[in-house]
Parts: sequence; structure tokens; C-alpha cells
Amino acid sequence: MTQYILGIESSCDDTSAAVVADGVLLSNVTASQAVHEAYGGVVPELASRAHQQNIVPVVDTALRRAGIGHESLSAVAVTLGPGLMGSLLVGVSFAKGLALSLGVPLIEADHLQGHVLAHFIREKDDAHEPPPYPFLCLLVSGGNSQIIKVEAYDRMTILGQTIDDAAGEAIDKCSKIMGLGYPGGPIIDRLARQGDARAFSFSRPHVSGLDYSFSGLKTSFLYFLRDRLKDDPAFIETHKADLAASLEHTVVDILMEKLARAVRQTGIRHVALSGGVSANTGLRNAFRERAEKDGWHIYIPKFSYTTDNAAMIAITGYFKSLDGRTCDIAKPAYARNRF
Ligand code: KG4
Repeated sequence: MTQYILGIESSCDDTSAAVVADGVLLSNVTASQAVHEAYGGVVPELASRAHQQNIVPVVDTALRRAGIGHESLSAVAVTLGPGLMGSLLVGVSFAKGLALSLGVPLIEADHLQGHVLAHFIREKDDAHEPPPYPFLCLLVSGGNSQIIKVEAYDRMTILGQTIDDAAGEAIDKCSKIMGLGYPGGPIIDRLARQGDARAFSFSRPHVSGLDYSFSGLKTSFLYFLRDRLKDDPAFIETHKADLAASLEHTVVDILMEKLARAVRQTGIRHVALSGGVSANTGLRNAFRERAEKDGWHIYIPKFSYTTDNAAMIAITGYFKSLDGRTCDIAKPAYARNRF
């Protein structure tokens, strides 16, 4: 009998639901929240309210596009954490209620592990090869920058991570300093394509091992602009593209330097990218160039699976269901990183 698993993701500002049938994706529906644009960042209270409005229609649409009704579901997988607690509670409470009412198991998914497992999302007639175990994954998003060693779907070790801001957070904050919109990542990406990446240089962190730091870069960017604006109030406007390109270049260099070190230290040459920032053109190009130069086998997820989505949660649920790993309905959501 076909195993239909519904995945639900609501850890930040995207309400998403997806259905997989025996590990093949049938639907993936995401409602993003434009309400935060006016504030230059996610406002937790507004995010929870929007999830409340979106969750029922998003789940209904995912089931309709999959061509099944609630009664066909074998399990409900949900992001239990980490994330914004108010946001998580909407998806988790809904998933628990649905699983209880249908008499099917609840399966918990970790948001970060989900991003890594996005590489295993399989669509119908999809010939892409997922990375073989073990592989390294650079997970870069608005909340995380981590180098992860992945030995199995449920065996992941963090080799290095940011000790302060995440890469995406730093880009978003610098974009805000420049008076650009939110989220800044895609805007910086677009502008950077027209600018000179060597026009300006910003401070680089000195952090030991495989850890990252991005808060110094943000401060260096802020002070640099403050000084230039004193002499030339139009400096940002006239140098927008060069600023974006130089900022992106610095972030990508920092990310790639530690990733290359992790490859040398572990000897693992299968290397994947995940998370929202992996949509970045400069990062993708640098990743491809490094792979060619150093003989890495690389894996980049489809664009739609780089940012938050429920397909990665449904596929996590599928792997866990194969091992009979369900979750106690009483288990609470968690805000902080746990793995
Ligand atoms: O994974 P994600 O959707 O959410 C979490 O943080 O979990 O990542 C969002 C982050 C934001 O910081 C956004 O600016 C960044 O990903 N981002 C990008 C690009 N697209 C999204 N950063 C750089 N270039 C992009 N093209």
C-alpha cells in the first residue's frame, strides 16, 4: 500500500505543506509572508498570526495538488524546531490535531536536518543523484551557517558553525544598512552581478577551527559606509552595485575557505550546499569553481528547495517512517538548535 506522508513546516515566516508518496514528492505548497518587508526583518508575533491564517488553506492545497484526501495519509511529519516558538506552535499544534483525528502517527523533523535532506527530495521522473554518505554539507541560511558531516539521514555532526551572526543574517543586515529592501539576500545577489567584487574590502574574521563569524563583517561594513557618507552623501546610491559585489565576495570567500579546510581535514570530497543563501549566484559559482579545481563532487539543491519548504520535512518523515520512528504526541516544540 502506498505510504502518503504530509509534511508541515512553519518554523519562521513560511507556511508550507507537502505530500510524498513512497518517497516521491507529489506536492509542495508555500505561503510566504510579505508583511515583514515593511519592518526589515521577521516580526515573530506577525509571523504567528499569518501562519494561523495560512495553515488550513496551505495544507488543503497540498492535499488537493497531490490528488488525495486526509483519509489517505499514513503519517504527519512536522518541524518541531528549531525556530520561532510562536511560529512553530501553529504548525506543530495543527499537525498534532490532524494526526490525532486521523489516528495516524506523528513524526518529528528537525528544521536544519531537513535543509540537509532537501538533497533527497525526489520528484516524479527526476533523475538527479543524491549525495552518497558520508558527505559534507554547508548549510547557510538566515539563522545558521554550519559545516555538517552527514553519515546517514539521522547521523549528522556539526564540524563548525557561526559563533555569532549567520551568513544570511549578515547580508540582510548590510542590505538594511544600505537602505535596500528585505530580505536583502536576493537584492544583493542581483546588484552584485553588475558590480566589481574587488572594489572594496571589509574585515575578515579570525576564528579558529571550522567555526565562522559574521558580526565583525557587518560592523566593518557599517563603519566603512559611515566614513564614506561623511564626504559623499550619495556614496551608497552611486556605488550600490560595487558595494553589493564586494560584500557578497567577502561572505563567499569566508564560507568557502572553511569549507575547503573541512574537506582537507575529513578527506570527504562529496560536498553539498543547503539553506536559503545557497540560492546565491556568487556562492554557487565559487562552489563550482572550487569543485573543478580540487576534484570535489558537488550537490546543489533545486532553487525551490533552498529556502524553507515542507518537501524537505515530508522526505525526512519518509526516511523516519521506514525505520518506524514516530514521535510522542506530547513532545513539545523547541526553539533552539539541538543537534
Ligand atoms: O533558509 P531560509 O529560507 O530561512 C532560514 O533562515 O531558515 O534562508 C533565508 C536567508 C535570508 O537571509 C535571505 O536573504 C537569504 O536566505 N537568501 C539569499 C538569497 N536568497 C535568499 N542570500 C543571498 N543570495 C540569494 N540569492
